[in-house]
Amino acid sequence: MKALFATSEIAPWVKTGGLGDVAAALPPALRALGCDVRVLVPRYPALRAAFPAAEHLVHLPWMGGHLPGADVYVAQPEGSFPFLLLDCPMLYDRPGNPYLGPEGHDWLDNHLRFGLLSRVAARLASTATPLDWRPDVLHCHDWQTGLAPYYLRFHESGGAASVVTIHNLAFQGVFPPQLLDELALTGADWHMEGVEYYGLISFLKAGLRHADALTTVSPTYAREIQTDTEGMGMQGLLRARADRLTGILNGIDDAVWNPALDPHIAMRYDRDHLDAKRRNKIALQREMGLAERDDCPLFGVVSRLTHQKGLDLVAEIGAALVGLPAQLAVLGSGDRALEAAFRELAERHPGQVAVTIGYSDPLAHRIEAGADCFLMPSRFEPCGLNQMYSLAYGTPPLVRATGGLADTVTNYTPAGLADGSANGFVCQAATAEAILGTAGSAAALWQDKAGWRQLQRNAMAGDFRWAGPARQYLELYASLRPA
Ligand code: ADP
Ligand code: GLC
Repeated sequence: MKALFATSEIAPWVKTGGLGDVAAALPPALRALGCDVRVLVPRYPALRAAFPAAEHLVHLPWMGGHLPGADVYVAQPEGSFPFLLLDCPMLYDRPGNPYLGPEGHDWLDNHLRFGLLSRVAARLASTATPLDWRPDVLHCHDWQTGLAPYYLRFHESGGAASVVTIHNLAFQGVFPPQLLDELALTGADWHMEGVEYYGLISFLKAGLRHADALTTVSPTYAREIQTDTEGMGMQGLLRARADRLTGILNGIDDAVWNPALDPHIAMRYDRDHLDAKRRNKIALQREMGLAERDDCPLFGVVSRLTHQKGLDLVAEIGAALVGLPAQLAVLGSGDRALEAAFRELAERHPGQVAVTIGYSDPLAHRIEAGADCFLMPSRFEPCGLNQMYSLAYGTPPLVRATGGLADTVTNYTPAGLADGSANGFVCQAATAEAILGTAGSAAALWQDKAGWRQLQRNAMAGDFRWAGPARQYLELYASLRPA
């Protein structure tokens, strides 16, 4: 089985969220099962720097509209998988975030940046590929590669079966209809069964309509996105294609997110040596400027600061949280107003609330290891990786009952604690009061040292490795390949 991944992010070089982690960790898990996976990704500056000796494979001439000519390079790091780097300096040789310019606004040519990525993915998966390697399956991720199955079917010669994985339905790749010809599309593509979506072009809609199979990143989210309340406008289409849609829970990379191996944390530990976790708490308190208390729990947050994540509700109850008593350590960036709200909270509660606005992978690891309880009260969450990292780090998460959070976290009850099923705290409503109430239960159990230790051990007993999900993807690929 040969599969081509097409993605706009890949950790650790280009990552704004979980998509980058998945694009880096799922391919090796598939390769371990014998699937030959290669990954097509734009040659951003970080990848140019990481693979200076990448080998030139092929030049692709102008692809119509405003889609410029481009080159494909290949790099295969020792022990890893082949990266196909899509080189087009005028579109990709820009520093920073892959979607936003320095002012925090979308790049004006994102339709071309990801239109070209989609078109090249389709070409390489087609019978007309210029490479001597042709995939059986083209696996696309999110809107950025959503046009690829459409191009493959209607503007290339066809070839591979196609899969679109929805990592987040909130991002739909929507552009004004005037850009149709820039994407080498015509009036013939402009209809409900084509790229048209409520009078606009949507990359994601075209992919969801025409891919051979659709997946999303948890079983609960797969159900939620077919409902009027959570379907974000795509529910009708998703219901119509329900027989093609499956939810496959993400995994975690246990070489990277593993407290027994983690090079970023003060002291390594495992399920049988949880006392060392206390050293990580003290180190985190020192690093972030929190008082070195051990008479109350420390809640941790690592997140994009957006409406999705429900952290505005945490900022709202900040004072009450501190009064439980508890401490709060936040690492995140995003929404400017929310960044300001957390900064203010830290100023009002010095020693009790510490906030780092920014993006830091090492600090993310130290919060997972040093916090007692991880806060993730998302309004919606396709899968969520951080709650799984928290489980692996013996940092029981407090989550809201939605999407992948509902599929991975089981609420504390005395019976669940005893039979091993409870591994965290689940809050039903997305309200400040509900979150505070659940945080109160967590803080109370934390005071019961034996009970808390049992909850940590339950959390760490879970198996969230990629091997299981990779097998499900491989079965899906096999079901698509013509017999
Ligand atoms: P999403 O993809 O919606 O942002 P996930 O939980 O799936 O949510 O994945 C988020 C990933 O991004 C995790 O690996 C998390 O550690 C990382 N992350 C998010 N914000 C930051 C930050 N400010 N600093 C470091 N890592 C972050
Ligand atoms: C998205 C989702 C997140 C998911 C990640 C990886 O960014 O918001 O829930 O874990 O993709 O699939």
